[in-house]
Amino acid sequence: MCGIIGIVGTAPVADRLVDALRRLEYRGYDSAGIATLERGHLTRRRAEGKLRNLETVLADAPLASHIGIGHTRWATHGRPSVANAHPHATTRVAVVHNGIIENFRDLREELLADGANFESETDTEVVAHLVSREMNHGRSPMEAVANSLPRLQGAFALVFLFDGDDNLLIGARKGSPLAVGYGRGEMFLGSDAIALAPFTDTIAYLDDGEWAVLTRDGAVIRDAANEVVVRAPQKTTAAAFMVEKGNFRHFMAKEMHEQPEVVAHTLGHYIDMANETVRLPEDLPFDFAKLNRMCIAACGTAYYAGLVARYWFEALARLPVEIDVASEFRYREAPLDPNGLMLVISQSGETADTLASLRYARDNGQSVLAVVNVPTSTIAREAHVALPTLAGPEIGVASTKAFTCQLATLAALAVAAGRARGVLSAAEEKRLVRALIELPRLMNEALKLGPTIEHLARSFTQTRDVLYLGRGTAYPLALEGALKLKEISYIHAEGYAAGELKHGPIALIDEKMPVVVIAPHDSVFDKTVSNMQEVAARGGRIILLTDAAGARRAALETEATLILPDVDPLIAPLVYAIPVQLLAYHTAVHMGTDVDQPRNLAKSVTVE
Ligand code: F6R
Repeated sequence: MCGIIGIVGTAPVADRLVDALRRLEYRGYDSAGIATLERGHLTRRRAEGKLRNLETVLADAPLASHIGIGHTRWATHGRPSVANAHPHATTRVAVVHNGIIENFRDLREELLADGANFESETDTEVVAHLVSREMNHGRSPMEAVANSLPRLQGAFALVFLFDGDDNLLIGARKGSPLAVGYGRGEMFLGSDAIALAPFTDTIAYLDDGEWAVLTRDGAVIRDAANEVVVRAPQKTTAAAFMVEKGNFRHFMAKEMHEQPEVVAHTLGHYIDMANETVRLPEDLPFDFAKLNRMCIAACGTAYYAGLVARYWFEALARLPVEIDVASEFRYREAPLDPNGLMLVISQSGETADTLASLRYARDNGQSVLAVVNVPTSTIAREAHVALPTLAGPEIGVASTKAFTCQLATLAALAVAAGRARGVLSAAEEKRLVRALIELPRLMNEALKLGPTIEHLARSFTQTRDVLYLGRGTAYPLALEGALKLKEISYIHAEGYAAGELKHGPIALIDEKMPVVVIAPHDSVFDKTVSNMQEVAARGGRIILLTDAAGARRAALETEATLILPDVDPLIAPLVYAIPVQLLAYHTAVHMGTDVDQPRNLAKSVTVE
């Protein structure tokens, strides 16, 4: 949600700011802007919409300064417009912000009464005026920021640039991520390591409450009490080349096709291939054998990965699982078992609700395990144990490879839990591990359905609503299929447990609405077929995703039947995720929507 960047450099920074914003555009793309010091004075260029609009503005009115800040926005307070685009500024200071200032109304009243003039509807502008007011009272930039930060409630990452000082940037973090980058005679601030990747691989992450003063010589980091903090920079592996589209038309297409490889990479981390056993970190702070239950919290697609995992943990490890969306879990005041286990799942590792759930669980004596794709993220750092998904940077806003890598990690974890709890024998573990090892090959097979699905997706462009049905682990996939379709094609879609159909949604069935039925030939297949009959009897359009045995057994007339390879039930969700993603992708491409950056969305949701 919003990307921010700051450079105090030794050469003109405008191009590099834009370059960094391009890598941050996945965090929001409602507007973009930069501020520099031209002949010592704050100068801004801002544009509504995608970054290319800012580039056009800059081509007409270039900037030459060696210091600057930049922002790409996901609108929270105030519609997308130039006036609401960051940086926000007074004559003394410009600021870029990621997060929400919750008490901005009170602060705005106070500042208005003091004579401040507001130009925007944003919460951020109060920060510029607060700092400015301090400076008007004779405080230095550092003192002004130190006095202003405690007045701000909510979540923020901020970077300040000061009029007349071309060797100073100040960054501050509470709730939203901010990294300090160390260059040669240059220093950087950015929302994440990907933004800084072409400039430096030497990075220090600010912790909550910390703020940093940057000059060309280095950074001084202080905590909320203004005590200096010693933080050794670390090397990151976020390489610049990893965020290229290659020969694919969209990042989403590239990321879907990477899945066999990144799932293999992820499994390689958790599986001892020679012994066909699952391998977890040795120093886990909990014992699966002693748990009475496990809680899971996550958001969106990551939540659906958790829903799939619930079936695995309950069936393979006889471990009761309670799962909730993180935005509810964090406020439910859920009673938790003494010494229990909390599992959070997050691609970005920065999702505000998931992070809050993690903190609630930790404060209530739980061991916290995080399945996370960004190893340097806040969630990875605050969990007791972070299990990485090795999907690499996911740039398409709609999650694909991160989802299947989450599933791969969770499957391995469930098998390990089953062994530890004495539910699975060594032979059963071997059998399941072999099934996991087969995954990359079977996912490749599933990707071959691309051309068929591209053709099928044409008929979806004429439809207003789509229903997805599934049972067992196919039920969360139905939810995921519906989410994927609506977020990138803007077609309304709903996922239901197939057995729920007759309790309401069946009223929607007519000859116009496609019903996508996800039904591998497994123990609940016949039940799903009965539900499909109910759709057929009402003239519904059935799109069936199954395997050869399932297609034979269903013996039903469908609009289309997509045949997937025969798979072990454990790995079916990962294989069936692929046609579900392809269907959403090709529908969106036919509809002509912005597949990688669909409207109103952002990749990393660091606000509530
Ligand atoms: C959907 C999607 C979102 C995310 C959700 C959680 O395609 O990507 O629903 O899954 O915002 O994000 P993370 O996993 O970063 O916590």
